[in-house]
Amino acid sequence: MRFSRFFGGSKADEPQQPDGAEDAAAVDESPPEDDDADGDVVPEGDRDVDLDLEWRERAPDVIPGGASTGSKRSAALYGERSTVGPTHFMRASGCHVVTPGGRTLIDCTMALGSVAIGYGDEAITRAVVEAAAAGNVAGLSHTSEVEVAERLCDIVPCAEQVRFLKSGADAVTAAVRIARTYTGRNHVVGSGYFGWHDWSSSEPGVPPGVQSGFTRTAFDDVAALQAACDRVKGDLAAVVIEPVVERLPSREWLDAARRICDDSGAVLVFDEIKTGFRIRPGGYQEYSGVHPDLATFGKAMANGFPISAVLGRADVMEAATRTWISSTLAGETTALAAVSAVIAWHERAEVCDTLWRTGEEMMGAVARAVAAIGLPGISVEGIAPMWFLRFDDPALESRFLELAVEEGVLFKRGAYNFASLAHDEETIVDIEEAASTAFVHLAEETRG
Ligand SMILES: Cc1ncc(COP(=O)(O)O)c(C=O)c1O
Repeated sequence: MRFSRFFGGSKADEPQQPDGAEDAAAVDESPPEDDDADGDVVPEGDRDVDLDLEWRERAPDVIPGGASTGSKRSAALYGERSTVGPTHFMRASGCHVVTPGGRTLIDCTMALGSVAIGYGDEAITRAVVEAAAAGNVAGLSHTSEVEVAERLCDIVPCAEQVRFLKSGADAVTAAVRIARTYTGRNHVVGSGYFGWHDWSSSEPGVPPGVQSGFTRTAFDDVAALQAACDRVKGDLAAVVIEPVVERLPSREWLDAARRICDDSGAVLVFDEIKTGFRIRPGGYQEYSGVHPDLATFGKAMANGFPISAVLGRADVMEAATRTWISSTLAGETTALAAVSAVIAWHERAEVCDTLWRTGEEMMGAVARAVAAIGLPGISVEGIAPMWFLRFDDPALESRFLELAVEEGVLFKRGAYNFASLAHDEETIVDIEEAASTAFVHLAEETRG
């Protein structure tokens, strides 16, 4: 792993240009300045693993669990028993992150899939900075809220109207509230992860009564879906589906969901928080041709800036005016500017095609490393733009993740690793080298 690449100003971090891309998003190649006012960052070129551990240990004193995003807690990154591995970063560019201890890591997680173009993309950053400089909020709505809504209606097949929110959970909760208002019914049948809000969660702190309006059903199981909907027949407000979970769904499952909603008058919602602007710009509905009544978008739509959207058929969306869905900063312009800049990227380049191709190469690289080592119970799975390593033994997975990070690559524990435009050919070679070396060490430790 060549740590000098990030600091040394090579072109390696420049986002890979998809075919047809005209103006490359140039990456600032000047070495990062030492912005260590507190002395808590090592100078350029040095590495101090202890400093990474200091941040890891310092965080839980003031942040329960160590991170505000569940998947970024040390236990989530490396496993409950892990005591090593960096948890914090100082800067990110392309697909690289730099830790406080001066390590440069290739990031295969891409901020939980919220970044598909690359970290710190110049065009997107410029748009965001300009929006901030122009005053990002006011007592009136900004015109960009209307413009971006219009653009999304052009791009997403089911979209005739849009409401913006801030998080994925906000958007799915809004979709459910709209569906319940539109139908005048209560019950929601859902398959997938919809965020942390009460209506779909059975965690401690959620009153048991909340669950009475929600039935969870298994991914891609037509009989289970039918049975769950039959049980609440007259009261079915919505079927909410995360359309891709570890693999593509069967056509039968999607058709069954569409038919059940059409027959019962319920609202079909696709949660496209991960699939929007990744599988296709218009999400899985564009890819499959099955159109929901409502959909939720977020993550890659703004390349890491905080905004989400619920969108869909105008007659269904109109119910948003008969209930209460509102967030003070929903129409804040920096995140809207990021969405505009992401849409511009998709207009000038085949971003999603490149994500599929790059993801295939990433999967191939790691699959070769897995095959070469011959350890049982490890496989590379998923679909190319969102893939993952499956370990039968969680302890082996934890140790592999620690070893891989030592070799300079951050892989996701469980699902998913996400392709980005910034994972270029050289990076993929580095990913294969790092995975291979980590597996060699893992095999040595395992076989004693
Ligand atoms: C399909 C899906 N829906 C909803 C969410 C929740 O999004 P957020 O974490 O932004 O609230 C996620 C987050 O991973 C998601 O993948």
